[in-house]
Amino acid sequence: MTDRTASAPKPQQLSSQMHCIGCGALSRQATQSFRCPTCGDLLEIIYPGWKSTDGIQGNLSPLKNLWRQRKTSDLPLDQSGVWRFREVLPELPDSQTVISLREGNTPVYELPGCARRAGMQRLYGKHQGMNPTGSFKDTGMTVAASFARQEGFRWVACASTGNTSASMAAYAARGDMRSLVLIPEGQISWGKLSQALDYGAVTCQLKTDFDGCVQVLNEVVQRMPVYLLNSVNPYRLEGQKTAALELLEQLDWQVPDHVIVPGGNLANSSALGKAFLEMKELGLISRLPRISIIQAEGANPLVRTLREAGGKELVRVRAETMATAIRIGNPASWKKAIRVLQATDGTVEQVSEVEIALAKAEIGADGIGCEPASAVTLAGLKKLLKQGFVRANQTVILILTGHLLKDPEFTLKFHRGDLFSGSAHEKEARSLSEQQRGPVVLEASADAVIRTVEKFST
Ligand code: F0G
Repeated sequence: MTDRTASAPKPQQLSSQMHCIGCGALSRQATQSFRCPTCGDLLEIIYPGWKSTDGIQGNLSPLKNLWRQRKTSDLPLDQSGVWRFREVLPELPDSQTVISLREGNTPVYELPGCARRAGMQRLYGKHQGMNPTGSFKDTGMTVAASFARQEGFRWVACASTGNTSASMAAYAARGDMRSLVLIPEGQISWGKLSQALDYGAVTCQLKTDFDGCVQVLNEVVQRMPVYLLNSVNPYRLEGQKTAALELLEQLDWQVPDHVIVPGGNLANSSALGKAFLEMKELGLISRLPRISIIQAEGANPLVRTLREAGGKELVRVRAETMATAIRIGNPASWKKAIRVLQATDGTVEQVSEVEIALAKAEIGADGIGCEPASAVTLAGLKKLLKQGFVRANQTVILILTGHLLKDPEFTLKFHRGDLFSGSAHEKEARSLSEQQRGPVVLEASADAVIRTVEKFST
């Protein structure tokens, strides 16, 4: 490994700064761990230059047009749904060598069937699973991986529940860097694992959970010059931020009432919240959506942190859920996420395994589909509607974070009716039979097929 690692990273010339969310210390350059050297808290990227008269704030009106125009440009940088918004991203020393797979540019779909079943007049999903590697991680990875390369790193690394590793491995390969993946053995879906392998990552399945992988990685990063690409890396959040800008553009800058996001390590909710807050500060929008975060009942540290500790200290849990992407008990970005909830007047909710499975099937039945972790948004929305926190006539956007094909095993088991076999949820899961469409094995005859169609026509 050592022969391919670089010497000390070069200093960057940025118009942005690192700001510690704990003690407020400012710095130009982050440490290997992306934590504040003074207090150990997380860093965020801020843009002091925005406030100057010749900065972005004095030039707002052409900005929306410029971003839109770039969609028709042939420049690779403009074709990226992330770098299209580069005025609100940290400046790369050399913007021509960005590592991009044309990420972003993801659709907002109307979900009529889900709306009807949930009791909403209308409902929309922004499908971040339509990114190049099938998850929202690509939007952050293009930024952070580009910085890694420009700082001279040869190796990048992450601990992951699967999607970060798939994304990182792809961007590292495109940027001619080596990648190291730490994943919990037997706890990530095959689709995601196969991506990391295909893109050439050195993949270590550790005999622990995601939180254990993070611990090991933190030590690795201290002992060798690998660039950390977990979401404590604030460049990732800057890229992920652009999904909110793109969403606003797709809604013609009309601010939705609610944005509902799954919560795992809590970086994505933090990133989207940061985007809306920045857009409001810049005057690009005049109000904020309420951002709400949904967790699985078995992986609910944020819910417990708010309900049991008033948001003051993190309540860690031993995480367990079939939505493996969000099987996280010790989320790094919990303070950032709480700040977003407070600033946008959002809320948290938790949903059961059966509720997740039902919601996933409903999103699939609208011809869209998503992975289990994304479906917590719809399951959570149903609860928020019942509580009166969301009203039927409001504009709600579900952030669908991962593609259906990330976890085909879950989908197959669901439709075959054995997802919950032998589990504590078996009885509750009987209610799912209406949604199940298991494959039918038949004799190879037209009669048999037609009889089957007739049966399903009634
Ligand atoms: N949805 C999907 C599909 C994910 O892969 C993740 C996180 C989340 C939601 C939660 O986002 O962590 O920012 O709150 N996956 C990470 C990974 C942890 O390693 O792929 P978060």
